[in-house]
Amino acid sequence: MAASATQIGWYGLGSMGLAMATNLQRHLAAKKAVNLIYSNRTMSRGDPLKALGAVPESSFEKLVGRCGIIFTMVSDDTVLKNLISSALNSGESLSSKIFVDCSTVHPDTICATASQLKEKDAVFLSAPVFGGNPIAVAGKLVFAIGGPKEASEAVKPLIQDVMGRKIIDCGEEATKSSLLKIAGNIVTVSLMEAVGEAQVFAEKTGLGTGPMEELIGDAFGPVAGGYSKRLTTGVYAPPLDSRPGFGVSLSIKDAKHAAAIAKDHGVELPGLQVAEDNMVAAREYGGECLDSSSMYGILRQRAGLAFWNEKNFKSRDTSEYRIQNHIDFSLLDARAFMRALRGVLLSILHHK
Ligand SMILES: NC(=O)c1ccc[n+]([C@@H]2O[C@H](COP(=O)([O-])OP(=O)(O)OC[C@H]3O[C@@H](n4cnc5c(N)ncnc54)[C@H](OP(=O)(O)O)[C@@H]3O)[C@@H](O)[C@H]2O)c1
Repeated sequence: MAASATQIGWYGLGSMGLAMATNLQRHLAAKKAVNLIYSNRTMSRGDPLKALGAVPESSFEKLVGRCGIIFTMVSDDTVLKNLISSALNSGESLSSKIFVDCSTVHPDTICATASQLKEKDAVFLSAPVFGGNPIAVAGKLVFAIGGPKEASEAVKPLIQDVMGRKIIDCGEEATKSSLLKIAGNIVTVSLMEAVGEAQVFAEKTGLGTGPMEELIGDAFGPVAGGYSKRLTTGVYAPPLDSRPGFGVSLSIKDAKHAAAIAKDHGVELPGLQVAEDNMVAAREYGGECLDSSSMYGILRQRAGLAFWNEKNFKSRDTSEYRIQNHIDFSLLDARAFMRALRGVLLSILHHK
């Protein structure tokens, strides 16, 4: 199947999905191919795509009905499962359609999704990505792809030099690309923890975060350097009215997937566990809107510094911030309310 002649759909316009879909739409427009059809829970997130010629469709089921290749880029396993269920139960024929999921989900979710779609004569590819929002904007992500070869080959031209700079082909088993993504995240999360620890060490010893950042970028590469910048520029705790580059809960989800798979195979991941515990502590303290690198705030606190650094201190180091954060995400049940209360009390105790 030639991808250029096929109607392509996209669901999921978060931090990564919007950037990826934008590059895909630009590519389609440049090739004079049919414009992308997009959908998202919050449809207004698609306005920049619409301005580029892409076509909104608020119903995922209808989008599936209109498209031959359907990309999804959503937060987690539950969201993906719900989308696939709605497609399976829509009454639309799914025959010969190719579903390409780019989210980070557990291999068991991939396995179940692939077999459900196969029963309907549709194909599922798992194509998770490596790289954060700036890399997605630049169209330089690394993709891992797994699933039936013919479908992979049909989709690759929509990825290579469009949304990504490299595709690692994991073969016909879709679960392999998901495993690779989760394994990669062991490195990602552990590296963020290591960079955070080094930067707190640099600040407390008087060395300073500037020379440390120069060294990290030059000696350990641009990825580690980028993580350092997330800390020193304050991005680890972004403004309340913005989306984090990589939300702390998404990173905790990834760490939990890795830990569960490791346990099943008798593998210990002690470094990852430290990072996960620090991310959980950061979320308890600062709320959902933190970035995955916010373990830095906890490392700062343990060293006697404020959770917030001078770049985000002004807008954040107030009990009001934490009250707002905790209340937004907490009034769901009694346990969450107690957590919110604890967050407020902590904010008063730790206020510097
Ligand atoms: N950010 C990164 O650096 C990065 C890097 C590599 C891989 N990933 C992975 O890529 C995936 C997307 O990450 P992201 O950073 O783009 O996440 P995000 O900014 O949080 O966006 C999540 C997307 O899922 C949608 N969504 C969330 N809950 C939903 C629900 N209940 N029903 C329907 N849609 C829902 C959101 O819709 P709304 O817009 O309506 O909220 C949005 O489109 C995740 O699996 C993540 O682990 C992220």
